[in-house]
Amino acid sequence: MVADRMTDEDTTVPQPTRRALLAGGAGIGVAAALAGQASAQGQALREFEGKTAFVTGAARGIGRACAEALAAGGANIILYDVAAQIAEVPYPLATAEDLAETKAAVEAMGVGCIDVTGDVRDFDAQRAAIQQGVDRFGSLDFVVANAGITQIGALEQFSEDELSLVIDINLKGVIKTIQAATPTLREQGAGRVILMSSVTGRIGSANFPVYGATKWAVIGLAKSTALALGPSGIRCNAVCPTLVRTGLLDNDYILSNLQPGTTLTFEQFNEAAKARHILPDVGLYEPSRIGDCVRFLCSETSSLISGDVFDVAAGANAQFPA
Ligand SMILES: NC(=O)c1ccc[n+]([C@@H]2O[C@H](COP(=O)([O-])OP(=O)(O)OC[C@H]3O[C@@H](n4cnc5c(N)ncnc54)[C@H](O)[C@@H]3O)[C@@H](O)[C@H]2O)c1
Repeated sequence: MVADRMTDEDTTVPQPTRRALLAGGAGIGVAAALAGQASAQGQALREFEGKTAFVTGAARGIGRACAEALAAGGANIILYDVAAQIAEVPYPLATAEDLAETKAAVEAMGVGCIDVTGDVRDFDAQRAAIQQGVDRFGSLDFVVANAGITQIGALEQFSEDELSLVIDINLKGVIKTIQAATPTLREQGAGRVILMSSVTGRIGSANFPVYGATKWAVIGLAKSTALALGPSGIRCNAVCPTLVRTGLLDNDYILSNLQPGTTLTFEQFNEAAKARHILPDVGLYEPSRIGDCVRFLCSETSSLISGDVFDVAAGANAQFPA
């Protein structure tokens, strides 16, 4: 993405080479120019040096990929994840080992990392995690409200408790993440907030009616947050994945409820994903694709983009209303 925005001005590196050649100092000039080029590329690669990101649902899947993508850009990371089973959730959530693995992967990129075990339904715990990060790293620059659970089935089948569970985590949890981060972001007068929605928040879904409703709500929340915090220099956007290769989909609960009376294999599900996507041979794709999008939305390249919705949908989104 950074390379995409290189202009003629950015490509001035070869010029000293020509000047050096004319001056007869070819060897030294070329070496200096190449060193300059490498350093410019290095700076682009570490564009988030000294910045700090708070990522929820970071122990695995898309959250881990976002943490890794921002760490690759040089950002310090506060990982936040329940990292244990929530009894009412009917498929396995991340474990303490997953969280430790993410921390190790992030630290391997040479940045600072704090891992906090906590639930997004807990405002105080999120606030404390952010404060811990600010105390250690000095700022809060990026907030990725990613934690969420899925819920499949016909609208009329869900109990009051099941409705509360998905709404409390997917909607109220995201609201609490924004609330926990806002005082620090406002004080700094800068920041980027990214909310993880879904393509089920862009079109109706008979299979995911309540989950989908929470994701529509998250898009509304992204737009309201962009309006409310924009004057303080804070941007907010929503990202909508289609079908990503994570534990949220690769589990018996999902595979046995996608089609009535049959349990799909993950490979069959992958073929169905290919049929859904318009670009050729794109099935369930890797979470790093969402990490790349989030990295772009945190970068200066996207400095005028706020209140927007980014579908990562391999062309399936071309069928959505605008
Ligand atoms: N996988 C997909 O195809 C897909 C598609 C569209 C949107 N999404 C959204 O992307 C986000 C991440 O999904 P994923 O596919 O990586 O799922 P995942 O289940 O692999 O990861 C979700 C992470 O969130 C954590 N988590 C769940 N509930 C939590 C809570 N209450 N508090 C703190 N942490 C909690 C889990 O432990 C897990 O580490 C979710 O919001 C999901 O709705 C995923």
